[in-house]
Amino acid sequence: MHFTSGTTDGLRTIARDWLPGFLRDGDEIVVPDADHQANIVPWLEAQRLLAREGVDVRVVPMPYQSGSGDYDHRALAERAGPRTRFVAATHVHHVYGGDMNVHRIRRAVGPDAVICLDAAQSVGHLPVSVAELDVDFVVFSGHKALALPGSGAVWARQARGPSFTPGGWSGTPNTVGIASLEAALDWLDAAGVVRVERWTAGLASRLTDGLRRLDAYEVLGCPLSLAADSTVQRRQGIVTLRHHAVDSGDLGFILFSHGFMVRSDNHCQGDAGEKTGSVRVSLHVYNTVEEIDRLLSVLASLA
Ligand SMILES: Cc1ncc(COP(=O)(O)O)c(C=O)c1O
Repeated sequence: MHFTSGTTDGLRTIARDWLPGFLRDGDEIVVPDADHQANIVPWLEAQRLLAREGVDVRVVPMPYQSGSGDYDHRALAERAGPRTRFVAATHVHHVYGGDMNVHRIRRAVGPDAVICLDAAQSVGHLPVSVAELDVDFVVFSGHKALALPGSGAVWARQARGPSFTPGGWSGTPNTVGIASLEAALDWLDAAGVVRVERWTAGLASRLTDGLRRLDAYEVLGCPLSLAADSTVQRRQGIVTLRHHAVDSGDLGFILFSHGFMVRSDNHCQGDAGEKTGSVRVSLHVYNTVEEIDRLLSVLASLA
């Protein structure tokens, strides 16, 4: 376990200190270019760095299913070949809120490729099993798991490729942040992260169900994510919406004036993502059914 200042720092450290020693000329890396920029930019920087040294690495865009925002694992299996050695993936999508079925990636890319998981939206929200997901790196931020901002960590399996030994001298560690991370994860363990997941997913489905009754709104990702035929395994506690007429920035201000802290913009999504802004509602254990109902009634009054 290596402590970092957050997910961006963790992914950058892997891209800077580990990936260049792993890749060879002609290798391919899979980059999810509709995910968070933090899980795109570091890999493209590594590609550029290697190119300067005469090592040519091809970037294969991660395929997505249209409509749900989930990865298209069948298309990934077709795109991946023997030179596909590294896959960057995200556990829970920060805009669409779906569990990205990461456990299917191993089957698509074979036993030897390294899978690096951006778990920013899953650690602290739902169980993260490195065995079930069969990933090689897990990277997360403390502040999304009830710890202080400026804390986070990288977990490395150390089985595929060279061992992960972050380079450089990073100076005095953020001991207060690390202590807060330990306290937060202990608290979540005691509370039961499965219960946290059930609570936030339940609130999210109450919100998506309510929004479906309001014609003026569109829910991004898979609105039917809790249905049996859904391509998304489970919607987690993130619901991103758009009003057909009200700009997302204005909607964010209106909701703020009613006491709701939401995010409204493009959520740092990569270039292959949404072209228009939206409002994201992120839920955790401290949110209540009453808050969801009050939010729905404010949204209904604008419908
Ligand atoms: C999926 C995902 N990855 C990466 C990040 C970046 O996290 P941080 O700003 O803590 O480095 C975020 C932050 O919102 C995120 O949602």
